[in-house]
Amino acid sequence: EKGGWDTFMRKEINEQPQAVADTLRGRIDGNGQIVLDEVRMSDQDFRDIDKVFIIACGTSYHAGLVTKYAIEHWTRIPCEVELSSEFRYRDPVLDRSTLVIAISQSGETMDTLMALRHAKDQKARVLSISNTVGSTIPRESDAVLYTRAGIEVAVASTKAFLTQLAACYLVGLHLAQIRGIKYADEVSAVLSELVATPDKITKLLQDMEPVRALAREVATRTEQRVLFIGRHVGYPVALEGALKLKELAYIHAEGFAAGELKHGPISLIDDGTPVIAIVPSPRGRSLLHDKIISNIQEVKARGAKVIAVCEEGDDITRVHADHVIETPASPTLLAPLLTAVPLQEFAAELATALDKDIDQPRNLAKSVTVE
Ligand code: F6R
Repeated sequence: EKGGWDTFMRKEINEQPQAVADTLRGRIDGNGQIVLDEVRMSDQDFRDIDKVFIIACGTSYHAGLVTKYAIEHWTRIPCEVELSSEFRYRDPVLDRSTLVIAISQSGETMDTLMALRHAKDQKARVLSISNTVGSTIPRESDAVLYTRAGIEVAVASTKAFLTQLAACYLVGLHLAQIRGIKYADEVSAVLSELVATPDKITKLLQDMEPVRALAREVATRTEQRVLFIGRHVGYPVALEGALKLKELAYIHAEGFAAGELKHGPISLIDDGTPVIAIVPSPRGRSLLHDKIISNIQEVKARGAKVIAVCEEGDDITRVHADHVIETPASPTLLAPLLTAVPLQEFAAELATALDKDIDQPRNLAKSVTVE
């Protein structure tokens, strides 16, 4: 049932190209228009939205954070993202023109379900993104877009995360197409890049041994904490990389917005502290690239050992970081579909080197149906 892999997590990491392709399949027509008929929201419903609120927990929350950057850029609709457990106990400002997107792999997460009910009480329209057909969250939503990751057995989410991103991008691009269209050219270019992503993930997965070697090296120094830094969509990827490492290897890992380093976290850096930097493409938004290079210099000056996840051919990063992990070129907003993958592999290998059960980490359950 593990299909020749030693663990479900490894199997699921390697199923990601297929899972993303499956999630996109049939949802983009021959004219490059996104068709989400199954969602059963009319174009007018999508046009009426003036605010988006994303609610989710854990890894699904990280998918939501990435989506905020995409939705606001492509559609200019204000978008907030909040942990379900926080949202459900406060008074968020919502009304019938608010679209609430509830992201839940299992469709059964109690806090997300309660947050969804809280949103519906205030007349917001709820669209859920879930991997589990017929589960409670989709059943209670006004609309649903299913991811097609297939069953995810490992407790740590991998392929579900990537398919959540794919589904969220579809929703964002769909909103942009319907609501016309400041960035029409960009939207169609991004859409063709999205369709090309599964092949890029395949290519990336073919070359994971260097990532595993780095993980084994870091595993010899587990007295260390591991820090992850990123900016823009690289920030939620940093959070996700740190979460994977905490849950699988039980070592202290933290993700930070790189711009926050000076406001506190940089004092965690000591001689040899591993810092994993998610570096944006040097093309396009090169300002962000410059900024993260400065952050790499700052942490290196305090003794950090920097592993940079960067775009292939990024020679500047190669000069500054101690090690680089290269990912195929991609538009900035779609990069998390690629940059998250080596971090999954890194966490899995590091935890394996420490002899942990990566499919079934201690204290965790696959579906969190209690608060
Ligand atoms: C981490 C992980 C969890 C889940 C979270 C939400 O690897 O799997 O953080 O993402 O419990 O679960 P769902 O998406 O089922 O609501």
